[in-house]
Amino acid sequence: MSAIDLYARKTAGFDERLAQTLAQLRAAADAHGEGLVQSTSLGAEDMVITDLIARAGLKVAIATLDTGALHEQTLALIPRIEQRYGLEVEVFSPRREAVVHFVRTHGDKAMYESIELRKACCGVRKLEPLGRMLAGRSAWITGLRREQSSNRAEVPPQELDAQGRTKINPLAAWSWADVWHYIQSFDVPYNPLHDEFMPSIGCAPCTRAIAVGEDFRAGRWWWEESNKECGLHVHEKTGVTA
Ligand code: ADX
Ligand code: SF4
Repeated sequence: MSAIDLYARKTAGFDERLAQTLAQLRAAADAHGEGLVQSTSLGAEDMVITDLIARAGLKVAIATLDTGALHEQTLALIPRIEQRYGLEVEVFSPRREAVVHFVRTHGDKAMYESIELRKACCGVRKLEPLGRMLAGRSAWITGLRREQSSNRAEVPPQELDAQGRTKINPLAAWSWADVWHYIQSFDVPYNPLHDEFMPSIGCAPCTRAIAVGEDFRAGRWWWEESNKECGLHVHEKTGVTA
């Protein structure tokens, strides 16, 4: 069974949510111009946003963080986006020397040893390149949704990040069924790992499939007990990761 078979469902209010999301993306493109970037993990939510941006003809840069530890199925979406939409995907990678130093010092399984080492790995592979992705930009678009986890239950449609940049979360109110209804309706390319019970996909060593009844993010950093976040999403006011 494909992820579309499993999850796509049109529920009440979908058309209104879609119209609001589109209006929000248009307004953001007008307000920020070249200062706006979509930060895509190439997951289902982000593919929906890229499709919306492309179909509306919005001038929004599309960028991804290639941590050096992504699945090949994830990376394969980069040329698919470029072919399908004629849009360039900017790829930000960690500094090679920093990764080599980290792995030489802590080993390639460091993330399983402690939360501190796991966060340090995310620091080197995600946060440092995110800083470069956002440098000189005034706003970024993410695929965060409230439904994804209790940490994210309060995600607003728009907020300020810890650096005071505008962070736009146009799918904040969307359900997982909405995401897949959109993907089905517009034949959006998606990561085939979603068909293998991986709803939330990050780096390969830190992502596993979930079992029936498990939480949406149960397959991310599954060996950790709490706060399964990497630091990409920190609230301006509380400093708490969401
Ligand atoms: S994470 O913080 O646990 O990795 P998640 O995978 O749920 O986050 O993704 C939430 C949002 O963070 C995505 O919709 C995307 O905007 C951004 N994001 C996550 N990973 C990446 C990545 N590798 N490159 C760019 N943006 C990313
Ligand atoms: Fe490292 Fe895992 Fe974080 Fe990726 S998700 S940067 S492999 S700890």
